[in-house]
Amino acid sequence: MAKEIISVTVKAQKADPITAKSDLLAVGVFSDAKRDRLCEAIDERLGGAIAKVRRLGDFKAKANTSALLYGDGKIGAQRVLLVGLGERKKATNNTVRGAAVLAASKAVELRAGRAVLALHNGFARRPDAAGLGRAIAEGAHFGSYRYDEFVTKNEDGRLKELIAIVADANAAKVAQLAKGVRVGSIIGRAQSFSRTIANRPGNVMNPAALAASAKKVARETAQLSCTVFDEKQLKQKKMGGILAVGSGSVNKPRLIVLKYAPVGKKAARATIGLVGKAITFDSGGISIKPAAGMQEMKLDMSGGAAVLGALKAAAELKLDLNVYGIIPSAENLPSGTSYRPGDIVTTYSGKTVEVQNTDAEGRMLLCDALHYAVEQKCDVIVDIATLTGACIVALGKHKGGLMGNDAGLIKQLQAAAEASGEKVWHMPSGEEYLEEMKSKIADLKNIGNKWGGACTAAAFLGQFVGDMKWAHIDMAPMEAMFEGGKKSGVVGSRGFGVRLLTTYLMNAAK
Ligand code: BES
Ligand code: MN
Ligand code: ZN
Repeated sequence: MAKEIISVTVKAQKADPITAKSDLLAVGVFSDAKRDRLCEAIDERLGGAIAKVRRLGDFKAKANTSALLYGDGKIGAQRVLLVGLGERKKATNNTVRGAAVLAASKAVELRAGRAVLALHNGFARRPDAAGLGRAIAEGAHFGSYRYDEFVTKNEDGRLKELIAIVADANAAKVAQLAKGVRVGSIIGRAQSFSRTIANRPGNVMNPAALAASAKKVARETAQLSCTVFDEKQLKQKKMGGILAVGSGSVNKPRLIVLKYAPVGKKAARATIGLVGKAITFDSGGISIKPAAGMQEMKLDMSGGAAVLGALKAAAELKLDLNVYGIIPSAENLPSGTSYRPGDIVTTYSGKTVEVQNTDAEGRMLLCDALHYAVEQKCDVIVDIATLTGACIVALGKHKGGLMGNDAGLIKQLQAAAEASGEKVWHMPSGEEYLEEMKSKIADLKNIGNKWGGACTAAAFLGQFVGDMKWAHIDMAPMEAMFEGGKKSGVVGSRGFGVRLLTTYLMNAAK
């Protein structure tokens, strides 16, 4: 690859934020705190500079805002970044993660290689120092991420290494913070990895390349193994759905199967199957998409990337449960060998599907992967996919859709979404929606009527899980080219799903 992506190290240290040497000191500020000892102490050193930006109203300490001041040799840091945390009573771990995202992003822009983070200090009365440490580490990784491996010339130069120090004067608290930082760094790194996998363009990241990346992760990670089924094996197994979608490209499809199994035997360990859609480029196929925006469809393998990231994190965290990562991968292109509208495809499960639109390809390959997950006797199956534009119409770009057949599983995923800050919204997918997916000439067809496309797509998938507990996350809203970061120049994948799925697995392993 052209370039190394920035290396980030986050550590918790017993240190005084005021005297610690750094290029940047990031200080969290509540908008409504009456007293803030750290801010006051820094302000005193800086001769009232903080009081001044507050008084002038230049910095109101709202969440997602910041103000930059300079240390001028009066404190250990070259620069001070005040980071807004909003109202104190509304603040959660998600707030502190967001503050760390902002601080780390600024550190990269300012080329501040050594940053001291004093973002959790105002949360002093909360007992959850580990949770705060984890959120800060996740945020530091997320905010410092830049996808620039193909930029050969970078005029401003760029930061190669960021050391982020979570500073606290209290040794017992540092120990707790450090625990969280360790977990958050594993998850944060897995998320950045997932973003790079997703961001790589279609000419680089094709199904074989994705399979090679998955194999590499498995090689480098204890207790993680990877099996790849190539086109020949897919034919032998009669995985008609994956083969149909991949038939138009010279880059042949793959089914990638990762397995994490913890050390040691224990009878009652749950097995969870994660299934992720990995279309390395979705042109729509014969039912071709309009040209405008088609380039975004290089991100159509984000579900698979999320599953790969979550497996990597689960293994590094040594979670006490078995996890399958099942990633069907293909490139959806139009050609003389493509599958076509009108085709009837016999899927791996034996169920037949009438293809009415080759652009509804995600469900065509997920159905084979779901049936494979059922065969592996998973206790629970969760799939994640950039499945429908309809889900973006329904939810906007702020939350993923969540559907499924088990109320308990939906609740667990909602809780994981809340804790991880990767939001989902529960949507229906029952009988009425399934009716629309029935074909007159096959068991199912691959598109419904005009409305409720996210729900009919989920109803289709639900036909391939038998009576297993199953949930489906339509992450199209979250991976349609990330625009939230345009101002900071951050575009592309946000690695949605890695934190959500890993948090879900951590809770399931408790
Ligand atoms: N990958 C797309 C869904 C998508 C659209 C993801 C926009 C992210 C942003 C999916 O394969 C697709 O094309 N779905 C079709 C389904 C339709 C043909 C029933 C869609 O949503 O238009
Ligand atoms: Mn499509
Ligand atoms: Zn697609």
